[in-house]
Amino acid sequence: MFRPPGIHWAVKFACYRTGFYLFDPERIVVSICFHFEDFASFVTIGKKLPQSKEEICALTDRYSASQGIIICDENTTRYAGNLGFPAYVLPAGERYKSWQTVEPILRAAKGEGLGRDGLFIGLGGGVICDCTAFASSLYMRGAHLALIPTTLLCMIDASLGGKTGINLYGIKNLAGTFYPAKAIIIALDTLKSLPPGEWKSGMAELIKAAILDPDPEFFTMISQKPDIQLLMSEPDTIQPLIEKALMVKGRIVEKDPRENPDSAGGRALLNLGHTFGHALESAMDPGKISHGEATAWGIARSCELGQELGITPQDRAEAIQKTLKAWGFRTGTSIGTSQGSSSESSRGTSRRSYRKASREKFREALLSDKKKKNGKLRFVVPMAKGAALIEEDERVIKYLDTLINGLL
Ligand SMILES: NC(=O)c1ccc[n+]([C@@H]2O[C@H](COP(=O)([O-])OP(=O)(O)OC[C@H]3O[C@@H](n4cnc5c(N)ncnc54)[C@H](O)[C@@H]3O)[C@@H](O)[C@H]2O)c1
Repeated sequence: MFRPPGIHWAVKFACYRTGFYLFDPERIVVSICFHFEDFASFVTIGKKLPQSKEEICALTDRYSASQGIIICDENTTRYAGNLGFPAYVLPAGERYKSWQTVEPILRAAKGEGLGRDGLFIGLGGGVICDCTAFASSLYMRGAHLALIPTTLLCMIDASLGGKTGINLYGIKNLAGTFYPAKAIIIALDTLKSLPPGEWKSGMAELIKAAILDPDPEFFTMISQKPDIQLLMSEPDTIQPLIEKALMVKGRIVEKDPRENPDSAGGRALLNLGHTFGHALESAMDPGKISHGEATAWGIARSCELGQELGITPQDRAEAIQKTLKAWGFRTGTSIGTSQGSSSESSRGTSRRSYRKASREKFREALLSDKKKKNGKLRFVVPMAKGAALIEEDERVIKYLDTLINGLL
């Protein structure tokens, strides 16, 4: 990871490359360069979006690129206007993270006459960025890629680290490649239109990143009661937290860019809260729990498991639970199934059998977690500083049984 000192290297670089004077104090506030194997990903954080094709080209080291295509969705197309490239607009949502989406992206790129030196620009959340990056990695065996993430989750997580992918045959991210973006361009103003539920998904990831950071400063920053209304109405106030979260992910990925299954301190750590959270999402009716709430619930369970195993000190677990609450997340074991769902109720299914079904779905989803190693589940649990990866043993199974049988 390279953090250029003094006046922004990005600005100097852009001017040098293009001959244009691009400096806008609101465009680039922070610039960071991460190295994944022999590949450099250059991240800029600013308030405003780039205002010209030349600026994007310079930031992507494609100073001579004349061809490019923006991939966005119906909610982010509003930001494509001044970027200077033709835009291909997709429907929004996880169900469009599919081959049926990627093939038309490739066709659109071909239609625009993109050569191998053409530039794919993903403008949107994790779905758009994962699909665009996947398509870019396939196009003529690899075209140039820039990502402009517009959700908090994508800014701090999905856009960085080179994982691309689509869902296939009902399995999330079944097909994918490792293909880091040359440039990740974060414009905080785009967060102004982000719906509250999407903010929450990003906030859960922020908390996760702060727990993973071995340096306690980040966790201290987020554990002070946040002014959530201020963050959402003036998104540039969240910039220091975004920067910290990017550093956490970037450092982890630099050490383990391809998620080596034997690397205990590597990319697998980024699953903190997700093993429990994904299982919960699978167990609930669609739309009953958001991704952010499920992740936060999973982080709370990771703390309990860590305490059972004597890895998470009590004061650390309490501080994490308190922080989750301060950011508006519920931390109790209850998953709210005691209310039943209207569809279930209308079919006359009793609450008790609904709870039982949810527990079974949760168990099944947990047991089929695709990040298992040698058939054993793995969990990430907080330590006094940072977090550790642990493997299923008798004590873990005992905790899981108690958790599942007690799910309400
Ligand atoms: N590649 C990785 O390393 C990585 C890491 C984490 C998550 N992911 C993937 O990211 C995806 C989730 O990403 P997400 O949470 O960004 O969801 P998303 O991409 O579905 O975006 C959420 C919603 O917000 C809308 N939206 C995006 N930006 C907006 C804006 N500025 N204003 C208004 N609406 C906006 C989108 O159109 C969409 O409806 C998942 O598919 C997940 O697998 C990938």
